[in-house]
Amino acid sequence: MEDGNAAQTPEQWVHLNGKLIPKQEASIAIYDHGFLYGDGAFEGIRVYEGNVFRLNAHLARLFRSARALGIDLCLDQPTLLSHVLETVRINQMQSCYIRLTISRGTGLGLDPSHIGKKPTICISTEQLRLYPQSMYETGLDVVTASTRVPPSVCIDPQIKSLGRYVNNITAKMEANRVGAGEALMLNMQGSVAEATGDNIFLVRSGELLTPPTSDGALPGITRQVVMELARDMGIPCRECTLTLYDVYNAEEAFLTGTAAEVIAMTKCDNRPIADGRPGKLTARIIAAFRELTLVDGVKV
Ligand SMILES: Cc1ncc(COP(=O)(O)O)c(C=O)c1O
Repeated sequence: MEDGNAAQTPEQWVHLNGKLIPKQEASIAIYDHGFLYGDGAFEGIRVYEGNVFRLNAHLARLFRSARALGIDLCLDQPTLLSHVLETVRINQMQSCYIRLTISRGTGLGLDPSHIGKKPTICISTEQLRLYPQSMYETGLDVVTASTRVPPSVCIDPQIKSLGRYVNNITAKMEANRVGAGEALMLNMQGSVAEATGDNIFLVRSGELLTPPTSDGALPGITRQVVMELARDMGIPCRECTLTLYDVYNAEEAFLTGTAAEVIAMTKCDNRPIADGRPGKLTARIIAAFRELTLVDGVKV
C-alpha cells in the first residue's frame, strides 16, 4: 500500500537507474512512461531490524510483473537485490519501508516500440507507519467501495502495475470520505477481491478463508506468509470466493499487506464483525507474523 507519513531526512540516498544519488537530486524524466501512462510496476518491501523481509519473493513478483508487461529490466534478480541492500545500507536504516518502482523507460507516445530500451528503476527508503498503534489494538473500520477492481481479463491482478492503482486510489478516497480506515473492493461479479492496499482474510468455522487471485486479489507476499503460518500452526486455510454476506457474518476478519502488516478488521459497513473486537485467531497470526519478520528475509 502506498500512503503518506513518510518522514524525510536530509542525508537520504536513492538508487536511480543503477546509481546512488542524494534524494533531493533524484528526478524522473517528464516523458517517463510510468509518469505518462502508469506503464510500470512496483514493490513495497519492509525491513525489520536489519532483515529485508521476503526480499526474494518481492523481487520475483516484480520480475514476473515486468515480464507480463513486456518490460526488460536489463539486469538480473541478484543485481537488483544488491541495489536494494546498498540503498538500505547507505541510508542506515534498521527498519524501514522500501519503494522499488520500475517503468518501461522514457519517450512520448504510448507505443513501446518508440521508446528507448532503458527501463527506469528507482529504489528509495522511508519510515512508514500506516495506522496509529491504537488501530492495531482496536481493529480497522472498513467500508465497501463502489469502485470495483478491474476484471482479471482486463488487467491481471497478479501484475502489480502502476496504472492499476488509479482504481485503488479512487476506492481509498471513498473510505476517506466517511472516515473509514480502509475500503473493501469487490469485483464485477460482486465477490470480495481485496482492500485498496491489502488482502483480506476471514475466519469461518475456525477456518481461514481468502479470495483467490482470480477474484481480483493481488497475490500478496504477506497473504502468502499468513497462509504458511496458518499451515504451520495447524489452522485450516484455503482460497474461497467470498461475498459481503461472508464478511458481515465472519467470526473474525483481518487485512494483510507489507505496509499495513497484519491488522484486524473489526467493522464493515457499520456492522461490527462478531463482537467488534480483534479475534483470538487474528491475535495468534499477528504474533507469529511479528516473530517471523525478524528472521525470514535477507540480512542487510
Ligand atoms: C492492491 C494490493 N493488494 C494487496 C497488497 C498486499 O500485498 P503484499 O502483502 O505483497 O504487500 C498490496 C500491497 O501493496 C496491494 O497494493
